[in-house]
Amino acid sequence: MSSTEFSRRRKQLMRMMGENSIAILPTANEQVRNRDVLFPFRPDSDFFYLTGFSEPEAVMVLLPNRKQGEFLMFCREKDPVKETWDGYRAGLEGAMEQYGADDAFPFSDIDDILPGLLEQRERVFYEMGCNAAFDARMSEWVHQVRGRTRTGVHAPTEFLALDHFVHDMRLYKSRSEIATMRKAAKLSAAAHSELMRTTQPGDAEYQLASRFQHYCQMRGASQQAYPSIVGGGNNGCVLHYVENKDALNDGDLVLIDAGCELDCYASDITRTFPVNGTFSEPQAQLYQLVLDAQLAAIEQVQVGNHYNDPHEAAVRVLAKGLIKLGLLKGTLAQVLKSQSYKKFYMHSTGHWLGMDVHDVGDYKIDGHWRVLEPGMVLTVEPGLYIPVGSKGVAKKWQGIGIRIEDDVVVTKNGPDVLTRDVPKEIAEIEALMA
Ligand code: GLY
Ligand code: MN
Ligand code: MN
Repeated sequence: MSSTEFSRRRKQLMRMMGENSIAILPTANEQVRNRDVLFPFRPDSDFFYLTGFSEPEAVMVLLPNRKQGEFLMFCREKDPVKETWDGYRAGLEGAMEQYGADDAFPFSDIDDILPGLLEQRERVFYEMGCNAAFDARMSEWVHQVRGRTRTGVHAPTEFLALDHFVHDMRLYKSRSEIATMRKAAKLSAAAHSELMRTTQPGDAEYQLASRFQHYCQMRGASQQAYPSIVGGGNNGCVLHYVENKDALNDGDLVLIDAGCELDCYASDITRTFPVNGTFSEPQAQLYQLVLDAQLAAIEQVQVGNHYNDPHEAAVRVLAKGLIKLGLLKGTLAQVLKSQSYKKFYMHSTGHWLGMDVHDVGDYKIDGHWRVLEPGMVLTVEPGLYIPVGSKGVAKKWQGIGIRIEDDVVVTKNGPDVLTRDVPKEIAEIEALMA
């Protein structure tokens, strides 16, 4: 992502904020894993979206039309000793020279400087409720400014949700964001294909997860967008199964929901395939039904359609098929009305995708499903889950969990499936595994 793009985003946000306003946005906190060991640091998505800055202990401040500078950064100072232990820091000069801040201050000085910046402004844009420790400091700074009103100081009068504005920007991906997401998607797709090629009965679920992550890490994606789900047989029916501890049985399916993160952008792919390389008859019947539902849903990812159209298309196909296979009783209209299909398909067909795997952006506006527009990216991921012990269900269907998930960009030319490289047709999968 070029520095011009980050600058363009800040300018766009400042235009929306208007005169006499201030935006204050801290990055994520470092998190202790145990004692003095930290989890790998990942910047806050909104913060990174607006700054491109990936160090911890940093706060972005925007002050539209401020003569002495509109974009301020609080960050860690350079420190040769600390840098020897923990690595490079951009420092105040780096924040200005590399990240385009008009001015930069030590993170440790923020309590002294921030109240003075608040004093000059009417409207405060802030993400309340995301960081309790920072909320308390904000509250203290505002309190300090109010305490000085008798000296003629004017305290801010309006507090607005910064996230509301930034999240709407993030919903529409730019050309370079889509390029990054395509790279992440292609890498994850290649890793899924590799699992299809290499999986054998007797492999442990965690070995597949490990091979997936290794494949991505060896090619530059150091982090996953979310914990990998690898569920063999009945484990595939647990939607967020992350224990990944069992061995894969000959004759079972395995469901793998895994995606790498690249430059802070997520990919999110699910594939389900037979551990031994060949679908049994009941597995093939249910798999083909989920695939038909997924293809029908992807077809609905069109400019001008509503967010929920893909879900409705998937549900229709699944409901019809479940009736035909004898898994649901009644007419299509009855099944859709009673939502009896939820016994086997209980989640929705997708979500926005971007820097966060379940990305930001409103799904409804004024109570109506959002209209799809170019640059939006969503997943399409119908499934069927029939756990062992399902009442009134023939044995042959039990222990089958299937989900097929792709990442799709809304474009004027129809759905652009970023993850199309990984096979999903039955014949393609069986051929790759043979
Ligand atoms: N990987 C989480 C999801 O598919 O929503
Ligand atoms: Mn997923
Ligand atoms: Mn998903």
